[in-house]
Amino acid sequence: MLVRQLRSAEGAEAESLDADLNEACALLSKNILRAHDLIKSFKQLSVGQLTDRRVQVDVTSVVRDCIDSLSPELRAKKIEVTITATAGEELTWDGFPGHLSQVLINLFQNSVRYAYPDVQGGKIDVRVERVVDTRGVFLRIAVRDHGPGVAPAVRKRLFQPFVTTGIGQGGTGLGLAIVHNIVVNVLRGRIGLEDPEGGGSRFVIELPAVVPPRDDEASSEA
Ligand SMILES: Nc1ncnc2c1ncn2[C@@H]1O[C@H](COP(=O)(O)OP(=O)(O)OP(=O)(O)O)[C@@H](O)[C@H]1O
Ligand SMILES: [Mg+2]
Repeated sequence: MLVRQLRSAEGAEAESLDADLNEACALLSKNILRAHDLIKSFKQLSVGQLTDRRVQVDVTSVVRDCIDSLSPELRAKKIEVTITATAGEELTWDGFPGHLSQVLINLFQNSVRYAYPDVQGGKIDVRVERVVDTRGVFLRIAVRDHGPGVAPAVRKRLFQPFVTTGIGQGGTGLGLAIVHNIVVNVLRGRIGLEDPEGGGSRFVIELPAVVPPRDDEASSEA
């Protein structure tokens, strides 16, 4: 609108419109910077200040609780989530279930949004297992969907903030950055993306069966 007026304006009117336009642009960039800082601080908040106490839990029950909390959304989109765990396997985890829930909920919400964007119906498979190798004992949680998979354009920087294909669908590109931060820095594990046979995406998380003490735990014991 302002630009159209500017095109047909002359002299003093053009100058005044030009000044308005400059002011609007300055305001816009100031607000974009403010929004950027705000989002950055939310991200730090979600990792640093989320209080979660260490407990021993069956890791499958954490997965099940997350699925339950999302069940209205999953039911509405007819998405079925299955959990597979080897019967009798020791799946006790000494860690922080609140943090793990935040990780899993982000992964499930991504599958809902990106694997099954409009279609009614879809499947998410979760596999939980215990892995023992030279590094120690780990619990591996794999979340797999049968959607189109992660777009090549975002693959290389998938776990970095603000990397998203979801602008316009409510995506900010913070979800997987937060997930990565929690898995690596809080739960001392690892996360990766695999390409499963038959398409879709599979996010694999490996967590130490006993999460090493956090800095604040160590200082409260001292
Ligand atoms: N299960 C999936 N299938 C296909 N693409 C995915 C999947 N999970 C993530 N992605 C891709 O990775 C990008 C980054 O995901 P991320 O969770 O960080 O951000 P977002 O979901 O777009 O936004 P936010 O989580 O902040 O709402 C997504 O925009 C999407 O392109
Ligand atoms: Mg997300």
